[in-house]
Amino acid sequence: MPRKILVTSALPYANGSIHLGHLVEYIQTDIWVRFQKMRGNTCHYVCADDTHGTPIMLRAEKEGITPEQLIARVWQEHYDDFAAFHIEFDNYGSTNSAENKECAQSIYRTLKANGLIEVRSIEQYYDPVKNMFLPDRFIKGECPKCHAKDQYGDNCEVCGAAYAPTDLINPFSAVSGAAPVLRNSDHYFFKLSSPSCQKFLREWTVGKLTKEPPLQIEAANKMQEWLGTEGWTDSDEHKLSDWDISRDAPYFGFEIPDAPGKYFYVWLDAPVGYMGSFKQLCAKTGISFDDYWKQGSDTELYHFIGKDILYFHALFWPAMLQHAGFRTPTKLFAHGFLTVNGEKMSKSRGTFITARSYVDHIKNTEYLRYYYAAKLNGSMEDLDLNLEDFVAKVNSDLIGKYINIASRCAGFLTKFFDGKLIFPNSKRLHDGAISSGQLVSESFEARDYARALRDIMAIADRINVEIAATAPWTLAKDEAQREALHDICSRALHGFYVLSILLRPVLPALTSRVARELFDMSRDFTWDDLAALPTHINSYQHLATRLDPKLIEAMVAANQESLKPMTESHSETRHAEHQQHAISPIAETISIDDFSKIDLRVAHIVNAEHVEGAEKLLKLTLDIGEEKPRTVFAGIKSAYDPEKLKGRMTVMVANLAPRKMKFGLSEGMVLAASGEAPGLFVLSPDDGAQPGMRIK
Ligand code: MSP
Ligand code: ZN
Repeated sequence: MPRKILVTSALPYANGSIHLGHLVEYIQTDIWVRFQKMRGNTCHYVCADDTHGTPIMLRAEKEGITPEQLIARVWQEHYDDFAAFHIEFDNYGSTNSAENKECAQSIYRTLKANGLIEVRSIEQYYDPVKNMFLPDRFIKGECPKCHAKDQYGDNCEVCGAAYAPTDLINPFSAVSGAAPVLRNSDHYFFKLSSPSCQKFLREWTVGKLTKEPPLQIEAANKMQEWLGTEGWTDSDEHKLSDWDISRDAPYFGFEIPDAPGKYFYVWLDAPVGYMGSFKQLCAKTGISFDDYWKQGSDTELYHFIGKDILYFHALFWPAMLQHAGFRTPTKLFAHGFLTVNGEKMSKSRGTFITARSYVDHIKNTEYLRYYYAAKLNGSMEDLDLNLEDFVAKVNSDLIGKYINIASRCAGFLTKFFDGKLIFPNSKRLHDGAISSGQLVSESFEARDYARALRDIMAIADRINVEIAATAPWTLAKDEAQREALHDICSRALHGFYVLSILLRPVLPALTSRVARELFDMSRDFTWDDLAALPTHINSYQHLATRLDPKLIEAMVAANQESLKPMTESHSETRHAEHQQHAISPIAETISIDDFSKIDLRVAHIVNAEHVEGAEKLLKLTLDIGEEKPRTVFAGIKSAYDPEKLKGRMTVMVANLAPRKMKFGLSEGMVLAASGEAPGLFVLSPDDGAQPGMRIK
């Protein structure tokens, strides 16, 4: 029975360009969808632009156009960018659509009818010049902690302190510059604190309500941190807070029914945009909307998302769906963040690369699809685009191993054998193709594309070894060796055929040409084609060129040239506005005696090195003034180059019981900060602190 699957990617904000970071998600999703379709499953892939909110409203105003004009322009840009990377949506909509409005309002009405909406007056900063309430990110002032000037209303970029906008010293509106005033206004809340929401979320997030757990292990752990674990009761301190879903006019969004001047907060109607976009698809094709969304539906629903928006998708969204009579997601597939050359994408380094800039310089977008696929393993780990490695991998694997098979052998088949393929031992080839297909399909299904490509390239290696050993170019010179030549070239091309089928989810355009031009099929490959043996080929046409590292250099240089000072992208701004929800709750209160049990010491990092075979660990040698330095294995490899740690001072827990690890004894722990946003930050004491000093 073919499965019925609905897949989404997160809806990109309509106020910024698509960049290589976004593409990690859309490429990952597209590969999975293409794989499902190839397998004969019914699979629909929908997405849309996320168009509402204050930043879009203000940006349109700045450009002297209406928000509708702005989002129409950006929609076209996004649409073209995705098409260039062969991301094939079945529908690409907009959250500012009639369908979405209808869905959002009807969900709201049901929640309200179920007693889950509450109106409360809250006090907030108001811009008296611009006549609008200010989101935290649009209020600036002096940090209450370190007194750095010009800091945002939610946290300080200098000292990292988090606070409320009302804590800022000399606050001003980032929109008009005016001093904001405090004002009351009625806000609408979704009662996440209600017993029914809490109970539902506590059960849903740990997989008690579904056949399979809806979250990856790492995501489930994160949720446990947010929700608190054992023994939850109504009065527990880990009670969820209600969610403020309204914003006051002026706001670009949907008006709340029966609440003049109040608009849905953008994150209310954004996930509903998945439904809105799907509704448009239903109207185009006759698919039944209810089939996929009604409570109790037996179809599958998957959301691919970045780890930064897990909170919205694992709490608010399922709670909304559940209490409005809809089904909840089968699974959320969260992924990590992109780094380029090991660091956050950066405009000054030229590594903040837009999709458009990539296309302009490199053209072949399947190279990036291939590289991302080779690095994606279905986890929430961050993913690094190392530009040197990118060139090396594309040239050695894609061109050197895969394309090479056809470019070396196809010509002999057309020259000497009229393009006909012969298979004296066809059973073995058939069985090999089927079992390879089985192996690789499991990896694709599990979103472990890295493993899929490793297995695929291992097949390519075996074929290349055989080609090298038989040397068809030598055989071709000897009339008497025609049969041997025909045999090796046929088998090589069969191998190329199998590889092309397996690679189709990753390389849709290239393998489409292979199917149509080389193997003379009038359609693209399906997974079932593995069971067939091709009978003939057309003459080989050049398929792909090596990636020239000069193109990469030029792309990075161009992005560096276009560097403008102080161009923080709006999407970053808006994102930060949402981050405040993602702070994990403060742990249980302890006494000073509890605290003083922990012996924290200033440590000098004498040495730092990689540990062979360890994915996450670095081996640190720490001097804390004792006779012998300590060895500590720290899980900070993803964030630090060991060379850069050597000589630094840090903080360690010195009285932690030693732990025997696979790689040796760990005699303590170093301290590092991490949160929902990407990154891991090792602590350091101020200048002057000496190894061994106690921290208290
Ligand atoms: N509009 C919201 C999503 C609403 S979904 C109902 C949003 N938009 S976004 O444009 O900021 O991001 C869209 C997706 O791209 C998110 O899943 C986000 O995690 C992902 N990425 C954005 N930058 C990224 C990287 N640098 N690396 C990997 N993924 C990133 O969030
Ligand atoms: Zn500060």
